[in-house]
Amino acid sequence: MRIGVPAEGPDQPLVAATPHTVGLLTTLGYEVAVQHGAGHAAQFPDSAYADAGATLVDATQVWQSDIVTTLDTPADELIATMHPGATLIARLAPRKDTDLASRLASTGITALAMDAVPRISRAQAMDVLSSQANVAGYRAVIESASHFGRVFTGQVTAAGKMPPAKVYVIGAGVAGLAAIGTANSMGAQVFATDVRPEVAEQVESMGASFVALPTSQEESTDGYAKAMDEDEAAAAMRLYAAQAAKSDIVITTANIPGRTAPILLDDAAIAAMTPGSVIVDMAAAHGGNTTMTVPGDVTITPNGVTIIGYKDLAGRLPAQASQLYGRNIVNLLTLMTPGKDGQLVIDFEDEVVRGIAVTVDGSITWPPPPITVSAAPATPAGPTAEEIAQHEAEEAAQKKRSRRNLMIFSAVAALALVALILVTPAAATSHYIVLLLAVLLGFYVISNVTPALHTPLMSVTNAISGIILVGAISQIGNPNPFIAVMSFLSIVLASINIFGGFAVTHRMLSMFKK
Ligand code: NAI
Repeated sequence: MRIGVPAEGPDQPLVAATPHTVGLLTTLGYEVAVQHGAGHAAQFPDSAYADAGATLVDATQVWQSDIVTTLDTPADELIATMHPGATLIARLAPRKDTDLASRLASTGITALAMDAVPRISRAQAMDVLSSQANVAGYRAVIESASHFGRVFTGQVTAAGKMPPAKVYVIGAGVAGLAAIGTANSMGAQVFATDVRPEVAEQVESMGASFVALPTSQEESTDGYAKAMDEDEAAAAMRLYAAQAAKSDIVITTANIPGRTAPILLDDAAIAAMTPGSVIVDMAAAHGGNTTMTVPGDVTITPNGVTIIGYKDLAGRLPAQASQLYGRNIVNLLTLMTPGKDGQLVIDFEDEVVRGIAVTVDGSITWPPPPITVSAAPATPAGPTAEEIAQHEAEEAAQKKRSRRNLMIFSAVAALALVALILVTPAAATSHYIVLLLAVLLGFYVISNVTPALHTPLMSVTNAISGIILVGAISQIGNPNPFIAVMSFLSIVLASINIFGGFAVTHRMLSMFKK
């Protein structure tokens, strides 16, 4: 089969295949036809496509291909030029464009919506919303930095102190997490909020502080947020306003599929922000997360806050965004070309394929049956009150047993020590007392060190075995065979301890080397 890669319109700098992904498509057994100049805006010249094995064709020929892949839904006139039975792969937005499925069906084609890939782990490699949101989140921080009149990294210089920028991200999905990572790597102090409580850990692992909402939602079952009720939304808005007033940069990414974006910052919240601060409203394309966003544009409010409402943040990094989009297409076609023979197989048993099919050979297959996926691991059913009571009783009995055993052991050890002191010469008594004090001291020191540090502590304190080694070497020539054998054994064991300790330390340190 032949895959056609048309040139996009003047407003779309991305291209659905790059020279690299063309190479990958040919290894799946496909021929690839690229329209002249298709990769120009994304910095991929025709010659690079030709070198990768593509044929360069004109617009009419590219739309005659068996599979046509574009960024967004092509114009109806272009779809009409596709032959019945051909396949269109693009971000078709079937949830928004309710009339789309019947329009596509009338042409007899198969249409696969890349923006409908279910949010399940297996499908991540094909998820264009994630790959593009990731690039967009990065770009949102770069855009904010270029409108912010200060630095991101805090520094102390001879000319004075520069405080780090405070960045607040609302909505820690794919775009939000990418923004957190980027702002953090630029040295800013980053804070983030999300309605989904399960993302707190991810936020913190990216180096930001999680600012929890007064009321957070149940763990999400599909990776997306649910709409809040009125009281929750009001409480959340108070928190966003208070946090935004303390921030230099606010990046809003809140999005609820199939709805207009929720308002997170109203006029009053923006008026309370410091002049010079910047808001990047990533949800501008869905209506915006602030009351003052102008979609597609940059505005400066009367109190000097810059609001960036660009809808094409990923398109502002066209080479990277095209590479990721093209790779998502390759991953989908890898799934749908099991024979690697250039033949597309539509397997409805596969939930990813079923989830993205809008039409198949002119029959409407949209919407697909719902898939429930969990963004968080399923919570096991909690123990019953009876089980908790039984568990507590067992624990108390166990503690009592341990305390009794410890007392018996201590009494026996004390008696043994007293007996030993009585039978040994008076000169050795002071050594036993030193040993006893050393054991007690060691016990208290080690029990107060956090368990995570026991291994490094142990490996370094192994060097103490050096003292044993010195003593054993001094006694190895002793005429008493018992002392000579004990000295030899001490030398062997102490050496193992010392070298083993250093080997463990070395291994642990190399785990931290890049
Ligand atoms: P996502 O669904 O992964 O993330 C949105 C996050 O916002 C979720 O974690 C959700 O729980 C959270 N959220 C929803 N309502 C909230 C609220 N009221 N308060 C706090 N958190 C809330 O979406 P993704 O992929 O990260 O995209 C984020 C936004 O960026 C979307 O609106 C998307 O369309 C947009 N986007 C914009 C681009 C541009 O060029 N402007 C490019 C790519 C994505």
